[in-house]
This record gives sequence, C-alpha cells and structure tokens, in this order.
Amino acid sequence: MGFPVHRLRRLREREGFRRMVRETRLSVDNLIYPLFVVPGKGVRQEISTMPGNYHLSIDNLVLEAEETSRLGIPAILLFGIPEHKDEVGSEAYSEDGIVQKALRAIKSALGPGLIVITDVCLCEYTDHGHCGVIREEHIDNDATLPLLAQMARSHAEAGADMVAPSDMMDGRIQAIREELDKNNFSHVPIMSYAAKYASAFYGPFRQAALSTPKFGDRRSHQMDPANADEAMREISLDLREGADIVMVKPALSYLDIIYRAKQEFGVPLAAYNVSGEYSMVKAAGRMGWLDEERVMLEVLCSIRRAGADLILTYFAKEAAKLLGK
Ligand code: PBG
Repeated sequence: MGFPVHRLRRLREREGFRRMVRETRLSVDNLIYPLFVVPGKGVRQEISTMPGNYHLSIDNLVLEAEETSRLGIPAILLFGIPEHKDEVGSEAYSEDGIVQKALRAIKSALGPGLIVITDVCLCEYTDHGHCGVIREEHIDNDATLPLLAQMARSHAEAGADMVAPSDMMDGRIQAIREELDKNNFSHVPIMSYAAKYASAFYGPFRQAALSTPKFGDRRSHQMDPANADEAMREISLDLREGADIVMVKPALSYLDIIYRAKQEFGVPLAAYNVSGEYSMVKAAGRMGWLDEERVMLEVLCSIRRAGADLILTYFAKEAAKLLGK
C-alpha cells in the first residue's frame, strides 16, 4: 500500500517531528580533537593549510586542552613535531621527547578527566620522513616494530590514556600490546589506524606535521584506495592482535568501508575526518561557495550514519559549540 495512505512528508513537516524520528545522533561524545605540539614557548602559529589549527608549544597546548575539555569533548589526539629529526626517529621514544613532555604537562594541569591519545608513528621524527627504519630505500617492517613498541610504552609512561599507531607496519598491534603488557600498562587501550589508505587527502597534514617523505611515497604500507576486502582483512588482523578500537582513514571517500567494518565486526569504530576533508570545506566556506557550518555538520553526521562511533576531526571544537546549544 502506498500513496495516499502513506505520506512520508507528514513527519518532515515540523522540527518537533523531525527531532523525534531522527535516526542518527551526532554528539560531542563522539568527537576527538587532534592537536599539534611543537618545541618552544609562547608558540601559537596557525597552520596555513589548515586554517583554525595551530602549532602549539606546551604552554599553549595546555590551554587548548583545557578549552577542549570545557567544551565537553572527551578526548584529544596528540601529534608531536620534534626538535631534532634523525634516521631512526630517536625523539619519538625518548623520555624527553616533545609528546612525552606535553603529556606530563597536560596531565599535571588537567588531571585524569580529559582522555589523551597519542599518535604512534615515526614519520614526524625521521629525517627522511618515512614511517619506519629504512634499509636500502625500503622500510624494514620488522626492524621498525620494536621502535614503535618503545614509542607507545614511553607515551604510556608519560601519561597517555590510549595509543594510536598510524604507521601501517604489519604486526605492530601485537608488538605494542606485548610491550605495554610487559610494563604494567595492560590497562592502556590501543586505537589502531587499521584501514589507513594511501590518500592525497593527507596533503594539508603533511605540511602541518612536516612529515612529507624525502623520497618515494607511502604506498608500500598504506592501503590502495581501490581496495575494500583488504580493509576487512586489516581490521580483522588488528583485532586479533589486540586492538581495542579500529579506525578507518580517511572518512569521507571511505564511507562504504566504515559501513562494512561496523556491519562485519561490530566493535568500537573510529573514522578520521582528515586534513584534506577539513581544508576543502574551510576553503569553499571562505570563498562563499557553501555554508561551511551546515556542510560540516552534514559531513560529521554522514560519518556517524555510516557506522562510526568516534570521529577524529579538526572541526571538533566548532561542532561541539553548535551541538552544546
Ligand atoms: C602519520 C599520520 C598521518 C595522518 C595522521 N597520522 C599522515 C600520513 O600518514 O601521511 C594524517 C592526518 C590528516 O591528514 O589529517 N603520522
């Protein structure tokens, strides 16, 4: 039976009805806000490719973390830009590395309330800009694992509430889980960038993190954007190795992957609304070509509708301000 008995417009006519039958909820609880920490004092420099995002020295990072928390956003994701880069990314796992210092400062200023997640990958710390140790122009997967494990452990020691490996080496979840467990951090969860694609949407971030590879690209370890079944294999392997939350990245061109992952695994799922997705909307908004605020909310809602529980997004603060109303 159809028209005229059924008229779907009846429940669309008024905001009250629309609210009552809305299927997808976007809440501040779903948001994770990425932040970039740099050496120095008093630094708050806007990242040109990502307007509204900043390189922050630790003092300003603490203020930003406080504001994020005040807005009700439950978690931040920390990226570090180190003082020195070298071949093996030493500052990534040093006790006095930029992220380790930032963690201690945030924890002592804010206490345990705000969840602080750290990005675990060597690319910001190596002078060649690759995600692992280089042997004869190739990334040595197995030689990289202990370094990633060490990096994750040193983050936990400095107070990280969760670690998020984004390197895409095979076996790193297992290596990190073992290292954390051996060192009394069995309570620290791992959010794995499980299905991470070799995407041009990371362009603005590479400038923010100063992590563009000096030679070659990331296609030897990040996934081919054409593949979907393979993403399910990546996720299933990471879950077997001990991942607590799995991530699909980027989000917007990969909504099908998010949908399948939620359907197939039914585990806590995150999606990364990456720099390029953010900057496209910002740029068009600034040109007056679209309504930035509405597009932002529509994008975030679509990622939730596809099945993501959590969204990592540079829009977190702006969205939180609107959602809090
Ligand atoms: C690697 C990392 C990247 C991003 C998050 N972690 C860059 C890359 O893989 O090249 C991208 C995030 C974004 O584009 O917003 N440390």
